[in-house]
Amino acid sequence: HGIMQAMSIDYSDKNPALGSLYGSHIASVRARHDHALESSGANHAVIFSGCPKTVFFDDQQYPFKANAHFLSWAPLPNLPLSYIVYTPGDQPRLVYYLPHDYWHPVPGQPDGYWTGEFDVRVVHTVDEIAQHLPEDRDKCILIGEIDNPAHAFGIDRVNPTSAINILHYARGIKTEYEVACLRLASHRGASGHVAAAAAFRDGQSEFDIHRAYCKAVSHTDNELPYANIVALNSHGAVLHYTEFDREAPQPLRSFLIDAGAQVHGYASDITRTYAYDDARFAELIERMNTAQLDICSRIRAGVSYSELHVETHRILAAVLVDAGLVNGDPDALLATGVSSAFFPHGLGHLLGIQVHDVGGFMENESGTTIDPPSGHPFLRLTRLLEEDMVLTVEPGIYAIDMLLENLRGTPAESHVNWDGVGWLRPFGGVRIEDNVRVTATGCENLTRDAFATIL
Ligand code: GLY
Ligand code: MN
Ligand code: MN
Repeated sequence: HGIMQAMSIDYSDKNPALGSLYGSHIASVRARHDHALESSGANHAVIFSGCPKTVFFDDQQYPFKANAHFLSWAPLPNLPLSYIVYTPGDQPRLVYYLPHDYWHPVPGQPDGYWTGEFDVRVVHTVDEIAQHLPEDRDKCILIGEIDNPAHAFGIDRVNPTSAINILHYARGIKTEYEVACLRLASHRGASGHVAAAAAFRDGQSEFDIHRAYCKAVSHTDNELPYANIVALNSHGAVLHYTEFDREAPQPLRSFLIDAGAQVHGYASDITRTYAYDDARFAELIERMNTAQLDICSRIRAGVSYSELHVETHRILAAVLVDAGLVNGDPDALLATGVSSAFFPHGLGHLLGIQVHDVGGFMENESGTTIDPPSGHPFLRLTRLLEEDMVLTVEPGIYAIDMLLENLRGTPAESHVNWDGVGWLRPFGGVRIEDNVRVTATGCENLTRDAFATIL
């Protein structure tokens, strides 16, 4: 029943609720481009969607991934060789490439809530594109990946740093439309997680759980915002475990799934961990769930995410003590590197069109960056939190021998309960990851809200 409800949600570009927010989204995107153009002394921004890449000495193409800047204008992830032309004060122009091609599927005619915001020029050949670009090419900047100089149509200024910095910094704050897409993406992902959990209960292999997930979210592998992590038992300790065993292991112990979905190019990035039937592992998951909610409750505008990351080490040190995996006080566990051996990645990252969205290290729009705290090089978000940032909160603890063995012969060694590590090893680890929107007083948890409407 829950899944049926999920499927009745309108993820399409006919969704009137998204349509009603799109105009003000475009107003924000225009404003940030006005600013970027002013700072780079140009009159027109030309945003290129991208060109499919071909495999070396082959005629196969890699899956097409559109330029995220193009997607920030229009919900068109499958429109290669197309251009948005923006001149402040004018309606943005969309040069929409609709080739005559009987070998490949071609895009449909322009249709959807987004069409009203553009002066759409449908072209059928690459040669026709030039006539729709501004004539004064030296007053243009081009934003996009140019592998073939012909696709720049004589525009010399490609991705000027000052403009890119302004656009990347601005993308850290989401518009209402983007938040609506991200809510839907969390909803779509949560429906996949519910199906995956059922497949795990049913004893299915990683491969079949992955397929159940993809079916529930209605994505091919290429449409997923990142490669699914579907890890049974000890595989949960491989942080980016992206292979799928075709057979389920015996006995089944644990299941860690890190999988997202996308809606109009906006991603969710969700992790859940389940125990099959081990009470101690179930208890560890429950402790991690409580810890993760505690961390979420500390989020609000003005908070330093770097400090929250370090605070997370203290919170997880307490979980490790309670779970019988380590002993000692949190300060000693941090100082000796014990917490980092169990929790060796960042607390989270900005989320948007890119799963690891741009701008997480930026101090301002001029490109100054903020380093992660010393000893925490993997943290990808060091900006002070602001209202309407959307980010992940993903604490985890794992039995990673490669890291834990490094503690031998150091002051950390005596803090580790090695029997406890031996117990955890066949379960892999626990990670719980939600997507949240920062507010003035707290956060909106897009992922928990989504699960609540499905379950
Ligand atoms: N799925 C990648 C990450 O959690 O950052
Ligand atoms: Mn993830
Ligand atoms: Mn993540």
